[in-house]
Amino acid sequence: MDVKNVVSQMTLEEKCSLLSGADFWHTRSVERLGVKGIMVSDGPHGLRKQDDQADHLGINDSIKAVCFPAACASTSSFDRNLVRTLGETIGDECQHEKVAINLGPAINIKRSPLCGRNFEYMSEDPYLAGEMAASLIQGVQSKNIGVSVKHFAANNQEHRRMSSSSEIDERTLREIYLPAFEAAAKKGHAWTYMCSYNKINGVHSDVNKWLLTDVLRKEWGSDAYVMSDWGAVTDRVAGVAAGLDLEMPGSGGVNDAEVVKAVREGRLAEADVDACVERILTIHQRYLENAKPETPWDQEKDHALAGKLAADCLVLLKNEGNILPLKQGEKIAIIGEFAQKPRFQGGGSSHINSFKVTSLLDAVADIPNVTYAQGYRILSDEVDEALQAEALAAAKQADKVVIVAGLPDSYESEGYDRDHMRMPANQNALIEVIAAEHQQVVVLLYNGSPVEMPWLDKVQGVLEGYLAGQNVGTANRAVLWGEVNPSARLAETMPIRLEDTPSYLSFGGEANTAVYSEGIFVGYRYYTKKKLAVNFPFGYGLSYTTFEYCNLRLEKDQIKDTDTLQVCVDVKNTGSVAGKEVVQLYVSDRESAEVFRPVRELKGFDKVELQPGETKTVSFTLDKRSFAFWNVNTKDWFVETGVFDIQICKNAEEVVLSAPVTVEGTVPLPILVDEDTIMMDLKKHPAKMAILRKAREAMRPAQEEEKKEESAAASEAITEDMNEAMERYSPLRNMISFSGGQANHEDLKQLIDAMNAVE
Ligand code: BGC
Repeated sequence: MDVKNVVSQMTLEEKCSLLSGADFWHTRSVERLGVKGIMVSDGPHGLRKQDDQADHLGINDSIKAVCFPAACASTSSFDRNLVRTLGETIGDECQHEKVAINLGPAINIKRSPLCGRNFEYMSEDPYLAGEMAASLIQGVQSKNIGVSVKHFAANNQEHRRMSSSSEIDERTLREIYLPAFEAAAKKGHAWTYMCSYNKINGVHSDVNKWLLTDVLRKEWGSDAYVMSDWGAVTDRVAGVAAGLDLEMPGSGGVNDAEVVKAVREGRLAEADVDACVERILTIHQRYLENAKPETPWDQEKDHALAGKLAADCLVLLKNEGNILPLKQGEKIAIIGEFAQKPRFQGGGSSHINSFKVTSLLDAVADIPNVTYAQGYRILSDEVDEALQAEALAAAKQADKVVIVAGLPDSYESEGYDRDHMRMPANQNALIEVIAAEHQQVVVLLYNGSPVEMPWLDKVQGVLEGYLAGQNVGTANRAVLWGEVNPSARLAETMPIRLEDTPSYLSFGGEANTAVYSEGIFVGYRYYTKKKLAVNFPFGYGLSYTTFEYCNLRLEKDQIKDTDTLQVCVDVKNTGSVAGKEVVQLYVSDRESAEVFRPVRELKGFDKVELQPGETKTVSFTLDKRSFAFWNVNTKDWFVETGVFDIQICKNAEEVVLSAPVTVEGTVPLPILVDEDTIMMDLKKHPAKMAILRKAREAMRPAQEEEKKEESAAASEAITEDMNEAMERYSPLRNMISFSGGQANHEDLKQLIDAMNAVE
């Protein structure tokens, strides 16, 4: 279909009808011109296809489908191939079900552990979130199914999500909250974006021209169309002008009529309407011309895949005395109702109607010597003395105990945030009681976001199970019994207490204003800078084998910021079982005169599988962005000349190998001189300094005279060095106060003009 040509044949009313949904999940058609509507359905970790009784909160049932690991889990894999496979599978399912766009991935940054939707989001780190999002998108779209990258942007809390304004300074937006969306455009080539409900710095996303047009399309070169989150439209006419293409789920024609009226009255350019329609239809064509409803959907096969993927998403956090893996023949007590009724996904619009669920108890049915006790009730926070006593008795009979604990559905969900990080009191109490009596206790957690672990020192093992999808049991069994060697790493920091978190003082905001006062210091950027102890740092995770690193090689030790830098490192499996290692590369700026910078930032990662004794070389390519910060004056990425350490790390806190590189910034920082410009800043600009020196020379005789008056004692008290140090902060305007009447305001103005006239 020649989209431009078809659009040119439409009436204004027809065009405007295409700017909103026909119903909850479908777009409209224009039959006389052969324009077909398409269907969209929620993801991100499966297919939530609703037919009748539509809603956007996951309340009503959708078709039976397969629930894969939620993003909190899948991102922990640090495995681009894993999420790509996940994407391909979801793409096939969509083809089978005639769903053209899967509404995901959700890639907002985890600003605080409290956000109710963190289970659906990827990471606290923008680079990791961007890389994983891009791979997932490539997977889905390789099947000619679109994604909708959400929630664009800065939707980092559920509290007042439709009215709150995320107040974020420019550098923080660019360095923390936008890069994952940027990667989704530049690397993922996402077909669509979904604008968020919230405002950014006072402007609702649906009418934010800077975001939707200037940044997304002009800067990042995206050809995506933007749809609204469900009900996120505040002003449809302004939205069309800003670049919001599609309103979902539609307003029953009310807003379409507004748009028609605005065009007729000359308040909106028809060309803006055309641009929206063209973008929408161009994307839909990609699906319509490649629809393959004959694609098979073998749900059992996908269920098996869900379990296989999930096993690579579990993070082994503690393994004292190698309590894990469990061995065949050991007497194991599995305790906790979650072992029977697992929590494997979060609540809200991502809720998949699983066709089948495999719990841990289901999965271990064939393992001898395994007993089970309920221990607590998921739906209550109260200790049940009888259940607890029964669990303790079961534990005492066993060689090892696995307590399955975590957060019940009501504790975290779309639509509201948590107000604390605690697990239910009865579950914490159960762990304490059993750990006091038994020295071989593993806690397996089901949760979408970090929890406080008051019992951490008293148990021997902790396995972070996250929300691992409907085949959770198979994955848990595989890792617990060592059929799969755990290889995931935390995509977020696990703080000790809520009070330690970077946004503790401001999360949620006051009324409709949420000030992101911690700035760029989100997640590990904060904890490493403050040297604050955490339970487990970002990037942390154990294995049943050991790895050694050596031979860190940098292609060069000096580069320009326009060059790339190849980095290689060798990794060896020094243990006795096969395993996968996540090699993490961080860049650390030794000294920054211009801005505050984090201790180190993740700029590369790779996952490698190694047999015992095997060594592999992992290589990375760094570029300008690996060293740059966002400069608010030049409105661009900027590298400050200096030494940067390339650090190969086990996690955000543990550096294994490090090598320096000197990077020369090739973009000079422009400076606009005014009366407040200080000497320290001027000294970086030789031509301007030359002008200043000349002016000072001219004034010197008078100043010399004045100096003679000074007592010898004073000149002894203030040494030359001190003088120079103090002078660093002297603004130009001081010339008037200290030139003994030699310079007046006009002289100063002329001097400033002269300085601004040169580089
Ligand atoms: C959610 C989106 C979702 C949409 C459709 C909204 O409430 O924020 O993530 O895709 O509903 O269900």
